[in-house]
Amino acid sequence: MAKNYSIAIDGPAGAGKSTIAKRLAKELNFMYVDTGAMFRTVAYFLDLLGISPKDADGVERYIDELTVEIEYDSDGLQHMIMNGMDVSDDIRTQDISQKASLVAAHGVVRDVLLDMQRSVAKKHNVIMDGRDIGTVVLPKADVKIFLTADPAVRAKRRCDELLAKGEKADLPRILKEIEQRDYQDTNRPIAPLKQAKDAVKVDTSALDIDGVVAAIKKIVEEKIGL
Ligand code: DC
Repeated sequence: MAKNYSIAIDGPAGAGKSTIAKRLAKELNFMYVDTGAMFRTVAYFLDLLGISPKDADGVERYIDELTVEIEYDSDGLQHMIMNGMDVSDDIRTQDISQKASLVAAHGVVRDVLLDMQRSVAKKHNVIMDGRDIGTVVLPKADVKIFLTADPAVRAKRRCDELLAKGEKADLPRILKEIEQRDYQDTNRPIAPLKQAKDAVKVDTSALDIDGVVAAIKKIVEEKIGL
């Protein structure tokens, strides 16, 4: 069987992981796997049931009643299916962002999703983004990128995204939420956000999307010749 390549992109919220990973996946013809969307789906499911994301017993009791599936549309965009229902849009709120970060601290949640993440990477060439891809999910990934940017820059980007969609955006609040999520994701005991020893750090604070894609393509070419 031919080898499948994997590219891991980790980093904090709003560093540009999904934008960059989507572009690269298209250019390299790899499958893009957004693991944050999986944690968001779990958070959304528990939220519908009224279970607090901090309630370890509640999370453990109800996680077995959830099936999470990933589907891809004809544009290669990832859709999240929760117990047969497409929840891809519902999971994109600020509230679910915060809850996903809390839900992600539970080992039982991480274990369920870990199996799914690894099995996709076994079958396909993947670009997978998240927090622990290079450290835990795919420790042998062919290329590991740690994508980061100043919190103020990340908050400004989120704010501009919301404004572009015609939604309200409160910059100081977004910055506070980003910093809180960074703290939670970095300081949890299980699979915290951290740069893998063999990851290449790319700071996107002063780069535009084309600049970041070019920088990463160069790294991919050096590592695996694609
Ligand atoms: O990438 P995102 O912002 O959609 O992720 C939402 C939350 O999910 C994030 O704050 C932490 C958690 N997460 C995680 O713990 N591990 C991953 N590999 C991906 C996301």
